[in-house]
Amino acid sequence: MKMTFILKNGNEKEASFSEKQTIFEVAAENGIHLGNCEGFGVCGACHLVVENLHDKLPPATEAEEDTLDRSSGLTVRSRLACQIILDASLDGLRVKIP
Ligand code: FES
Repeated sequence: MKMTFILKNGNEKEASFSEKQTIFEVAAENGIHLGNCEGFGVCGACHLVVENLHDKLPPATEAEEDTLDRSSGLTVRSRLACQIILDASLDGLRVKIP
């Protein structure tokens, strides 16, 4: 399965993922550094803007929302990369690094 990261400079990077990986893990495997808390959901630095497949994403937990509130450039489509666990329904996902 594949997903695409839209980098800060506007370039796109396609990445393969497996079921149950987080977006944070997929990014790290592809040399994209997101976040500073190793995926524990507390730093807010792995903030992403989801570009498609919104209806397939599990809703954010209250803890994710609290951390997101401290991120800059927040949008209604903002999520934390470390809190989204991927599955087959998210094949073709596109996320933008703000
Ligand atoms: S890596 Fe820190 S909140 Fe996701």
